Amino acid sequence: MIHIFKKGNDESKPTLLLLHGTGGNERDLFPLAERIDPNANVLSVRGNVVENGMPRFFRRLAEGVFDIEDLIKRTEELNEFLNEAADQYGFDRDHILAIGYSNGANIAGSLLFHYQDALKGAILHHPMVPRRGIALPDLTGKKIFIAAGKNDPICSQEESVELKDFFEGAGAKVEMFWENHGHMLTYRELEAAKTWYDQIY
Ligand code: MLT
Repeated sequence: MIHIFKKGNDESKPTLLLLHGTGGNERDLFPLAERIDPNANVLSVRGNVVENGMPRFFRRLAEGVFDIEDLIKRTEELNEFLNEAADQYGFDRDHILAIGYSNGANIAGSLLFHYQDALKGAILHHPMVPRRGIALPDLTGKKIFIAAGKNDPICSQEESVELKDFFEGAGAKVEMFWENHGHMLTYRELEAAKTWYDQIY
């Protein structure tokens, strides 16, 4: 997968996996990583699917309607890419914290829904429920921060709470932060994510 790896200077920190929103690329979220932890490794990946010229991490049939078969396939592909990248760059495969926005948050959620050991934790900006009707792996010990919009036209308040309940039902510890600016990733939610991160690391 097209990506950028930036080596950090503190091996005790997680590797920050950056996953952009629809139409973004691997350069977009570097300012977030810089704010969350300037000393951590950063692995930033570009989604392999292109929709009308816009990179994404998996196909959708319509706005908010996911192509589940493709979601499953792309989630596996990303998980395998993480295995390879950990070997290639020599970082700890078991210590990856995803930071995703929108479509990137959705594939991060899908990694957590499908693989017990894909991620140690995640900061999810405006995620949706990636998939319903499956048993999640045991997510005990995983820490997840969700920034959601009370008036997000792409993900309702109910769906954001549903996602939190799925994660908590699987044993993860979830912190929820509510915003009021639609689907936008705001400075306030970035600062809330930073406060959450600093309490853990
Ligand atoms: C998705 O397709 O993943 C969501 O609708 C968010 C987005 O617009 O990318």
